[in-house]
Amino acid sequence: MKIAILGNGGREHAIADQISKSPKLSKLYCLPGNAGTKTVAENVNLDIYDFDKLGKFVKEHKIDLVIVGPEKPLVDGVVDFLTNKGVNVFGPNKTSSQLEGSKIFTKKICDKYNIPTAQFGVFDNVKDAHKYLEKANIPIVVKADGLAAGKGVYICENSENAKNAVDEIFNGKFGIANQVLIEEFLYGEEMSYFVISDGKTFKKFNTAQDHKRVGEGDMGKNTGGMGAYSPSGLINEELDLKIIEKVINPTFEAIKDMGETYKGFLYVGLMIRDNNPYLVEYNVRMGDPECQTILPLLESDLLELMLSCCEENLGNQIVEWKDKKSMCIVLCSNGYPDKYEKNIEIPNLEKITNNNTLIYHAGTQLVDKKVYATGGRVLNFVSISNDLKKSRDLVIREIENLCWKNGFYRKDIGFRIID
Ligand code: AMP
Ligand code: GLY
Repeated sequence: MKIAILGNGGREHAIADQISKSPKLSKLYCLPGNAGTKTVAENVNLDIYDFDKLGKFVKEHKIDLVIVGPEKPLVDGVVDFLTNKGVNVFGPNKTSSQLEGSKIFTKKICDKYNIPTAQFGVFDNVKDAHKYLEKANIPIVVKADGLAAGKGVYICENSENAKNAVDEIFNGKFGIANQVLIEEFLYGEEMSYFVISDGKTFKKFNTAQDHKRVGEGDMGKNTGGMGAYSPSGLINEELDLKIIEKVINPTFEAIKDMGETYKGFLYVGLMIRDNNPYLVEYNVRMGDPECQTILPLLESDLLELMLSCCEENLGNQIVEWKDKKSMCIVLCSNGYPDKYEKNIEIPNLEKITNNNTLIYHAGTQLVDKKVYATGGRVLNFVSISNDLKKSRDLVIREIENLCWKNGFYRKDIGFRIID
């Protein structure tokens, strides 16, 4: 089968790596891919947001399945566009993708279907939002409604900051805003919970914990994710059942009530308090770097699972996992998540690749057989074993061996359950 993966991050390299192992595969393309995907696929430098060009490529190359990695093309409706052309696509359609594309859409579902989440208010003007904030408990959380590349959430320690956040959002920092979401601050520990769905049924797709803050001890600015481990230390049978019954089942019921079917991964971002789940956010894709830490634990054929979602027979599949733990640390360019230099060579990468660690590329490009860093998050180092600390030590040794002068990373990924 001929498969095309859309995206160019660590998540997409991890997906490409898994797909490349499937006996069903005959040819793999990554659009546009990175220096890492080039080792398992053919990179095609095509603008995936130009749907006409994308559709033409897929038809001309007789692609049997398109796998969508990132959220933006999903929210923009790439699945609807390709499906209308008779192409098989793994990923949710435009309406279902509103679960990530509009935080207010999701909160309204929570309200209607009684899904546990932070109490909230939706405001369509600055004045009312400010008035509400004057009496609100602190800390308080202010959110832009739409996609904001992880930057549209403000955790505010006083009402002045919260008012500034409201102003920034209405002033268009994240695009035209007609509404703002203000919600209660949830205390607890975060967990990422994943499922794969064919629209009729879903299967659990493991758990993970990522570290979003740039600094050790979870301090400093928010990033796309500095590292992750899987499974989460918080999961247990009772909690698992509550997540399915109180959060996931009613969400899929809501999607069905809209006359839609949800096909693809669903990333359930939760706050756990007293072994109870509260929904923080939905993402309509795998997490990054959660994907890089989860997929190496998968025993089953990922391509077969994805195809079964398109054929709506996921119910006949068994999703099997290695009984191991996995750790991923992200090597970033100095300066990230603020300004960082681009097109810096990463020498010696080929020398450190060994059997104990996997390396998934993120912001990299191959030029004249040399690897260059082109993004903020550059490389993901992953190790699986029975012991997270052992994996972390191993990964750190590998990163140190690389000795890349332009990079930094967090040495404390997993500190809450390791140290
Ligand atoms: P989101 O983009 O909605 O996932 O928010 C990004 C991050 O902000 C989450 O991973 C949480 O760490 C934090 N966050 C969002 N909403 C809340 C909330 N209501 N209470 C506490 N933390 C939150
Ligand atoms: N690691 C967070 C995300 O993928 O949204």
